[in-house]
Amino acid sequence: MTSNLSPTVMAAITGVHAWVPPHVVTNQDLTRYIDTTDEWIYTRSGIRERRWLQDDSLASSDLGVEAVKGLLAKKGMSPLDIDLIICCTATPDMLFPATANIISDKIGAHNAVGYDLSAACSGFLYGLSTATAFVESGRFRRVVVVGADKMTSIINLEDRATAFLFGDGAGAVLVEPSVNEFGIRDILLKSDGSGRHYLYQKGGGSLRPASHETVDNREHFLHQEGKTVFKFAVTGMADVAAEIMERNQLKPDDVAWLVPHQANKRIIDATRDRAGLPESKVMVNIDRYGNTTNGTIPICLWEWESQLKPGDNLILAAFGGGFTWGSIWLQWAYSTP
Ligand code: UT7
Repeated sequence: MTSNLSPTVMAAITGVHAWVPPHVVTNQDLTRYIDTTDEWIYTRSGIRERRWLQDDSLASSDLGVEAVKGLLAKKGMSPLDIDLIICCTATPDMLFPATANIISDKIGAHNAVGYDLSAACSGFLYGLSTATAFVESGRFRRVVVVGADKMTSIINLEDRATAFLFGDGAGAVLVEPSVNEFGIRDILLKSDGSGRHYLYQKGGGSLRPASHETVDNREHFLHQEGKTVFKFAVTGMADVAAEIMERNQLKPDDVAWLVPHQANKRIIDATRDRAGLPESKVMVNIDRYGNTTNGTIPICLWEWESQLKPGDNLILAAFGGGFTWGSIWLQWAYSTP
């Protein structure tokens, strides 16, 4: 899907907030579960530590609730002001109802429509794209896009090839009609379902409902063929970031920030190289949070928010299960007081 936008109403991100659980799990801590070393994990992925939600009674919605509550507080908004909540998640609280509905209820967003969006690690970009279309069309004016994942609910602590990669966390943005000349300028989304064989959670859906067999086979955990996914991700994410820059005549000097999905530092570096950007223009926090799936990009925006200036060109890019991947060019619309 491509869209070179020239709408009459432009959509803009007008606020961001995020939340990660306080409990830090270092690579060294993981050696209690898997045969690994801090050096191996850091060299292969760039990860030093991640956050785990320790309270078993909490779920992805609770991560999302913290992010949205913080966003509303920052904006001085009531939950009743929200028109639509899109929750992008690979780890919904339940298969249904939607985690967005659970978040709405927990925060009291009684006027909001809500639904979930499933596009694995590209989910936040897909959700932001949907929010943009609704705001541009006039259908909804105040859309909250939440990326929330309790990845520890599907991490297989017996699989050393995946257990170290993921962390828990959530981020949320508010998308509204732009009140200046800045906002979401171009969107490039791609998917290829033949990639479904390499990154998936086999059990728990209608194909393999929970049974003794699916539990015994550990089918309710995430499975990844890392090398194959890496090969597609390293070219896919770099390609879309380069393509969106090229088709909008954006040169490296024009770009203030690359905001990449945080799956592997080597994939981030390859994307930065293709875009011709220096390290100083790339948001990287994978060392502290690992891969929070739908949370990575809004968590980055939240951490760098105070450095962003109106008019800054940001290139967002992601690659994930499906396969799904994409890039968004936006011009940051506000300065942080
Ligand atoms: O966000 C969604 C999209 N996901 C991604 O983009 C992730 C893409 N994949 C990756 O990032 C990388 O494939 C990993 C970081 C997951 C793995 O790195 P790799 O360089 O592809 O390693 P590998 O899986 O090929 O494993 C290399 C070796 C193997 O040993 P042999 O067969 O060479 O003897 C593994 O058994 O490293 C071994 N190994 C480990 N050793 C220590 C695998 N996991 C570990 C471990 N600690 N945790």
